[in-house]
Amino acid sequence: MPKKLTRREFVQTSTAAGLALGAPAAVFGQAPAVVTNTVKPVVIASNNGNVYKNGGTEVGVAKAFNLMTRGTDVLEALVAGVNLCELDPADTSVGFGGLPNADGIVQLDSCCMHGPTRRAGGVAGLEGVRTPSLVAKAVMDHTDHHLLAGRGAQEFARQMGFTIEDDLNTPTSRRLWLEWKRRIDPEHYLDPKKRGEAMQMAGLSMVRDGLIDPDHYYGTINCDGVNSKGEVCGVTTTSGLAWKIPGRIGDSPILGAGLYVDGDIGAAGSTGRGEANLYNLCSFLVVEQMRMGKSPKDAGMEALGRIEKNTVEKRLLNARGLPSFGINFYVVNKKGEYAGVSMYASTYSVCTENGPQTLNCEALHPGRASD
Ligand code: GLY
Repeated sequence: MPKKLTRREFVQTSTAAGLALGAPAAVFGQAPAVVTNTVKPVVIASNNGNVYKNGGTEVGVAKAFNLMTRGTDVLEALVAGVNLCELDPADTSVGFGGLPNADGIVQLDSCCMHGPTRRAGGVAGLEGVRTPSLVAKAVMDHTDHHLLAGRGAQEFARQMGFTIEDDLNTPTSRRLWLEWKRRIDPEHYLDPKKRGEAMQMAGLSMVRDGLIDPDHYYGTINCDGVNSKGEVCGVTTTSGLAWKIPGRIGDSPILGAGLYVDGDIGAAGSTGRGEANLYNLCSFLVVEQMRMGKSPKDAGMEALGRIEKNTVEKRLLNARGLPSFGINFYVVNKKGEYAGVSMYASTYSVCTENGPQTLNCEALHPGRASD
């Protein structure tokens, strides 16, 4: 453990590092300048947290980690991290350029939770704002409510000073939506059951054909962090299921499903098939499992097992009789222990003092969802 510095040494170290706030630094590859307690700060996210930079130099988990370890509030840092994905047009699972609904309209969901203050906010079906996570945070900061939806959420955003745009599609998201429309047999609109199947099959065939990243079909970035004081927060933001029925809300903005944070225990968030998560309220389940003493990995596995047990409809099972969809959980406890778990092989991102990394999730089952 690094030796604790005297106050004089600390001031000298901070000044040398150019730290205005005197907050502990955890620059990659170096030990923190000051160790205040035993929690090692960490930021954990879905794999897009270590991919998109929106034209800058840092990926989302690194941005969040660097802000957090320089003294920025944990949630503020995490939101700044996911903003990179929301604003990057190349991430078609989130924010600007997220894959639109069946009518070609980008509808966004997000929520955030602040462990130390026990506050939360969310938006669902929000149109026209590139950064729904910031609107979710504004709901938390400026209202007595936890969730605003649709037109009301957009009007709130306008009143809070957010720019409202007519269309959040990019040329890529619009091209992919048109391709999906082309693949639907219009005759199926006559039969609600077949129509549903046709929509699902057209979407999945685009994943199989390599047009859509499997992780972007259900979309989403979840990002959770704990700082050296053990303060835990989380945020989830998404454009939701590609080509969804307009108005469909997934798990991402729902407290306990797309995200749950208990300041005394830890945080869990999810990406993947939101309906499976909503049915089981898994992020809440994961945090409760940690409360009962489970490690982040074991708590996450419990949620995956619950989803498997409750997935009984034939249309949702693969040839092995297992869930035919992917779903992941990103879990961190107050001590800074963390895990990424998934139904099938997948990856997640993490940032510690060693810098950003992409790691393999612990998978409940071998093979792929489609096997
Ligand atoms: N997990 C994202 C969604 O289903 O909308």
